[in-house]
Amino acid sequence: MNTDPTQQTATGWWTEAAIYQIYPRSFADSDGDGIGDLPGITSRLDHLVELGVDAVWLSPFYPSPQADAGYDVADYRDVDPLFGTLADADKLIAEARSRGLRVIVDLVPNHTSSAHRWFQEALAAAPGSAQRSRYIFRDGLGPAGEQPPNDWQSVFGGPAWTRTVDPDGQPGQWYLHLFDTGQPDLNWDNPKVHEEFLGVLRFWLDRGVDGFRVDVAHGLIKQANLPDWQEPQEILSGNEIDKPRPPMWDQEGVHEVYRQWRQVLDSYPGERVLVAEAWVEPAERLARYVRPDEMHQAFNFEYLLAAWSAPAQYAVITRSLEATDSVGAPTTWVLSNHDVVRHASRLGLAIGGGRPNGIGIGDPQPDAALGLRRARAATLLMLALPGSAYLFQGEELGLPEHTTMPDEARQDPTWARSGHTQRGRDGCRVPIPWEADAPSYGFGPTDASWLPQPPSWAEYALDRQREVPGSTYELYRAALRLRRAHALGRGTLEWLSSGDETLVFRNGDVTVLTNFGDAPVPVPPNAEVLATSAPLNEDTIPTDVTVWLRG
Ligand code: GLC
Ligand code: MG
Repeated sequence: MNTDPTQQTATGWWTEAAIYQIYPRSFADSDGDGIGDLPGITSRLDHLVELGVDAVWLSPFYPSPQADAGYDVADYRDVDPLFGTLADADKLIAEARSRGLRVIVDLVPNHTSSAHRWFQEALAAAPGSAQRSRYIFRDGLGPAGEQPPNDWQSVFGGPAWTRTVDPDGQPGQWYLHLFDTGQPDLNWDNPKVHEEFLGVLRFWLDRGVDGFRVDVAHGLIKQANLPDWQEPQEILSGNEIDKPRPPMWDQEGVHEVYRQWRQVLDSYPGERVLVAEAWVEPAERLARYVRPDEMHQAFNFEYLLAAWSAPAQYAVITRSLEATDSVGAPTTWVLSNHDVVRHASRLGLAIGGGRPNGIGIGDPQPDAALGLRRARAATLLMLALPGSAYLFQGEELGLPEHTTMPDEARQDPTWARSGHTQRGRDGCRVPIPWEADAPSYGFGPTDASWLPQPPSWAEYALDRQREVPGSTYELYRAALRLRRAHALGRGTLEWLSSGDETLVFRNGDVTVLTNFGDAPVPVPPNAEVLATSAPLNEDTIPTDVTVWLRG
């Protein structure tokens, strides 16, 4: 599919890696305060080895007021006491490395926390000062500056501007925050900001990390003069190539930032990588982030968002491969993360319906059994695709979203900022179950859990699934082992058929078939079944099942 003969195709561990996202608050709690921490993660690294992943990506663990669960960073070169110490981070990196696991950390360059020293200095300084020019401060509109400088909305709801109070108590300038009030956007037109982040990259590269997942990578540069945008705010850049692009997303200038960062990473030994969290569509636009001198990978959210149907899956897989091939980068695949409804629940909602931003009491509830069945089929399909796959902690247990969490327990700023119209992301962030009969299901030594765990979670606990044939955990393990043995991550996809009901493709010596239709499909004669997402019925593949075949 690579149409440019001069284009080199990337090689390296990351091009075919299975990368496991750890959300530190909710993975494992070593000290019983109900919040997961770095020593907890270190104590559970053997799980990841047994599962068979190649790398972990850690969501932020830096000092933070936790206005957005750590995506509001107050100090980029330290660890929040909630999660441990820098020594704990060093130990985690060393212990991971000794097990052959790579470590990717989260980098949040679009905004800092309002508690960051820079922002505090900016508030104390005068309008127009060097301190203020690290952020996006503007005078308000209207006779007394009482209106925000433009009409932009926060991704979490409400205006994207907050007015400051001057040291003398008078209302002052406004500052931009595309997310929470506690997350002021940095001014990437300021060379000091560039310099600072080059230092942060080096700080973590020197400590031995294998790369960075770059938060809101499409947001750093804003269109000059910050023009009004009359549209509801979304994190997505807008998906039609010839329509005007939102002035806060996917601006040309971001690419220069990543070219510079790439040079820093390339100056270190050992194939360090940059992964873009860029909600950019269509795939051709996203591919621009992974040109040979920019980032290595970008999350494929178009894939995550695609409907569960043969035509939709065929289209998104084909488009994704073509787009990344055109720049010589590997494709990535992802079904769940800490910002979306877990796929075991999402796929239990009506096909083609809206995609809720969280599910709560009183909302239409997903069909749990159907969701899990489709999630297993989707995962087995995903793990057969060439490229790199991202997994979110707990999905290997078939964990659903917590869809009946009491609203009083919610922590995501989305719930309050949207005026209680969007439940937000807490339901996918609940601490995960390890042992069915232990306090907090083995998340920590006590019952404490920063978000409530549903009573039904005992059945998903790791110790109820380990060595249990047919469990979701054993399905993931088998798939990851076979994926490696058959080198599927570095293979090539060849479609054998793409109808309305089934998809069939070959990758190396493995044939993959997913049945999306109502009628069972016969297993091809003489084929050996290597893996199946649910039991077959005699020699037929039932609805919502993926099989891997040889022969
Ligand atoms: C990214 C993170 C999300 C966070 C937002 C602001 O989208 O994944 O969790 O709220 O950026 O930092
Ligand atoms: Mg703890």
